Amino acid sequence: MKTYDNVHILDHPLIRHKLAIIRNKDTDTKQFRDIIKELAMLMAYESFKDIPTQEVEVETPLEVTKQTVIKENSVAIVPILRAGLGMVDGVLALFPAAKIGHIGLCRNEETLEPEEYYCKLPTNIEEKVVMVIDPMLATGGSACDAINMLKKRGCKKIKLLSIIAAPEGVKVVAENHPDVEVYISTLDRCLNEHGYILPGLGDAGDRIFGTK
Ligand code: PRP
Ligand code: URA
Repeated sequence: MKTYDNVHILDHPLIRHKLAIIRNKDTDTKQFRDIIKELAMLMAYESFKDIPTQEVEVETPLEVTKQTVIKENSVAIVPILRAGLGMVDGVLALFPAAKIGHIGLCRNEETLEPEEYYCKLPTNIEEKVVMVIDPMLATGGSACDAINMLKKRGCKKIKLLSIIAAPEGVKVVAENHPDVEVYISTLDRCLNEHGYILPGLGDAGDRIFGTK
């Protein structure tokens, strides 16, 4: 597959180990949920590398020193409902001050096109770095819709964090949104005829929420 400058595969033994667990069909809801959160945390660590910082003065027990912190009000995370919710706590574990928006999209199982059912975003989102989070990047339709919704509201610095991606989805997002940095933990083989990622992990939303 063609490589794209804006697509980063976060290959690491810890990530591979956790992926093996969530791919297993016998992994139960609790463990699945816990590991989605842990993977989100690892992905946040890497994808936060270039977010805005500011200098502050800190008084240690010995003296005053200049230190670097993440710029106030500079980051929003936007989970795509519903599976994206499973990643929120992992990102917040590293950066609890992030504002949170929600975009509700559900793939029509026949057309595979995403349908929007909810959108509530933090005020001044256009001034923030926006991390769109969704464990699965399949056809790329949901991610592109979410990115388009954010761009329409003026967002200029958008990142996408998806745990498992199909080549089809990566191509669609990377080519339609070359300005969006895409972070994935693994690039899987392909989609099946129902738009599921192979080998994948099945339906992420159902496995996080135990609905099937
Ligand atoms: C899943 C997943 C993504 C989308 C990916 O959600 O969480 O949002 O499919 O597929 P795409 O790249 O082909 O658009 P789904 O629509 O199943 O909704 P859910 O999270 O409510 O289960
Ligand atoms: N959505 C999922 O939850 N899983 C897939 O494999 C594809 C889309």
